[in-house]
Amino acid sequence: MNKFFITTPIYYINDVPHIGHTCTTIAADIIARLHRQKQDDVFFLTGTDEHGQKVAESAAKAGLTPKEFCDSIAPRFEEAWKKLNIDYDFFIRTTDPRHEKVVKDFLQKIYDKGDVYKAKYEGWYCIGCEKFLTESELVDGHCALHPPEKTVWKTEENWFFKLSKYIPQIIKQIEDKETNYIFPEGKRLEILSKLKNEDIRDISISRENVEWGIPTPWDPKQTVYVWFDALINYYSATQFVENKTDFWPANIHLLAKDILWFHTVIWQAMLISAELPLPKKTFIHSFYLIDGQKMSKSLGNVISPEQLVETFGVDGARYLIARSFPGENDSDVGIGKFKEKYNADLANNFGNLVSRVSKLAEGLNLLEGEVVEIDINKFDEKIDACRFDEAISEVFTSLIDSANTKLNQETPWKLEKDDPKRKEILTNISKNIVAAAILLKPIMPDTCKKIEEIFKGIIKPSERPLFPRIS
Ligand code: MSP
Repeated sequence: MNKFFITTPIYYINDVPHIGHTCTTIAADIIARLHRQKQDDVFFLTGTDEHGQKVAESAAKAGLTPKEFCDSIAPRFEEAWKKLNIDYDFFIRTTDPRHEKVVKDFLQKIYDKGDVYKAKYEGWYCIGCEKFLTESELVDGHCALHPPEKTVWKTEENWFFKLSKYIPQIIKQIEDKETNYIFPEGKRLEILSKLKNEDIRDISISRENVEWGIPTPWDPKQTVYVWFDALINYYSATQFVENKTDFWPANIHLLAKDILWFHTVIWQAMLISAELPLPKKTFIHSFYLIDGQKMSKSLGNVISPEQLVETFGVDGARYLIARSFPGENDSDVGIGKFKEKYNADLANNFGNLVSRVSKLAEGLNLLEGEVVEIDINKFDEKIDACRFDEAISEVFTSLIDSANTKLNQETPWKLEKDDPKRKEILTNISKNIVAAAILLKPIMPDTCKKIEEIFKGIIKPSERPLFPRIS
């Protein structure tokens, strides 16, 4: 059995889940389900990032202690993922004492190695990003991604990690696609160019005035920098989750472009320093835009996973996310566009085909002894590469659209019920439908299972439409 370990970022707990978090988590679920179907031994890890100044401030605003605050929000993520039928194996929280222990051990190891030193640091810090900003990241004197008041001047004596020491090795490893595969290619080149052309400094890995964090093992007055703590989750889970203790290194980390640097440079340097193997692949996707704009609370255009499930059903929501997944480029979505796509692809096309054919074939046993052949080139590879839209398009063109054409051209309903020609036409079309359901199962697990059941043995149409039309 092949081991397959897949991760999503652990999401900041100061926010509730939205469609951005949803797309990475659904992508991981689709890939994990495909690997389980292939009988791999899968470990799918997701969770929440709970320490740091940002969380402490949100908790104070809510009148709660940071821990109470985290305990009230973490279940919102778990519930959202359950609603979307996301079958993760473990939900990690960075406030879990078992994770905290691994973080301390990890830090101690790189400290003992001589990769940590104390120094004074001064600079602009963005509380929204939880990082010090470089000159080039300042726009009008503040972080471009967050409101101006989130950028503060900090002077601190901190512990520093010798990131710069590892840059030549990281460059070498990123250049060698076999050991450290960052994709898509554009992102790999972007990182390489930054590593080669910019002056990469060491980073501070502890905080003096942030109480809400893991105490630094050799200097408990300081707490571990939240990003250092968070990145270690991918490894820490493999140190304490039952039956998953031999899953490191990860086969694939999924994340978006906002946190590319942390994952492809800082995380890699931390692992090299701790003498641990590197993840095999890191996939970086783009962003969702909502009706052409950045998603933001102040614009009021945030789409929640709950809203998606209420409007489109679980599998409808999963399909739409996969179909619109922001791979190499940002993807412009919105409830209106989703409705159009849902009606066109699922209600009027695939759902309608299943309903028409199963009604015409009701009571027959068409597929007994028949082999449903799946002849889609490299479908699995496309899913593994998060090219969901391409994978789905192929299922439509080679199976669903051709079944519709056959049905409309050969008009089996005009033939007598016992005409063998009618049976032959319906058999061929049913084979296409079942093949499509088998392929689309990781994307729409429940509905595809229902479709397989409709066509298994005596054909029995579903009483209710699989994808009711939405007005
Ligand atoms: N806590 C850190 C990650 C630590 S991982 C060791 C963090 N959290 S986050 O809540 O801000 O989540 C960032 C991730 O959410 C992105 O990398 C991406 O996976 C997802 N998305 C957030 N907004 C998004 C869009 N608008 N579009 C697509 N995905 C986006 O960063």
